Amino acid sequence: MSYQVGVFVGSLSKVSINRRLAAALMRMSGDGLELREVPIGNLPLYNHDYDADYPPEGVRFKAAVASVDALIFVTPEYNRSVPGALKNAIDWGSRPWGQNSFALKPSAVIGTSPGKIGTAVAQQHLRSILSFVNSPELAQPEAYIQFTDGLITEDGEVTDPDTAEFLAKWLRLYEEFVCKVISVNPKPAT
Ligand code: FNR
Repeated sequence: MSYQVGVFVGSLSKVSINRRLAAALMRMSGDGLELREVPIGNLPLYNHDYDADYPPEGVRFKAAVASVDALIFVTPEYNRSVPGALKNAIDWGSRPWGQNSFALKPSAVIGTSPGKIGTAVAQQHLRSILSFVNSPELAQPEAYIQFTDGLITEDGEVTDPDTAEFLAKWLRLYEEFVCKVISVNPKPAT
């Protein structure tokens, strides 16, 4: 049995280093996790006037979140916080009130930046948001990846053995965490 995992990439850039990191995780995940990206770039800016009648992009996004067992957020840091596009997507998924798509879905956050603190501040903000939307989060290991030239290729090959080993361990511990959370909160039968 494998868990379906929705991957949210916080960057909309065509040359995103976080998309490379997401590609690396997709490449490295074993049989127990099936990772697929949930696109966030086509969502309009959320406001609660939409709640009465979600547009097709919002409906599709919520259905994509509902279809997965667990979540991974791969995000850059913008001005010491979460990029607006990612926050917007979480706002869409969390509403209408009472129909929060993230509730009880186990999550993990990871990110990369050229800076030495490797998205640490953005990740702390994201953890606070995920707490509010009631998503149990992998606490450890934290994953702050400093991106150096060529660290991850465009197709997700990790060129540094220590980083590759760290990411493999992170995925293994994430899978164990997902398994524990889901055993306590099994998906309701449909
Ligand atoms: C950045 N960058 C950045 N880096 C960082 O470590 N902390 C920060 O607060 C910021 N702030 C910031 C704001 C904005 C608007 C931009 C465009 C960039 C640099 C950032 O880490 C770098 O551009 C990465 O390449 C962004 O990740 P993606 O988009 O390549 O995945």
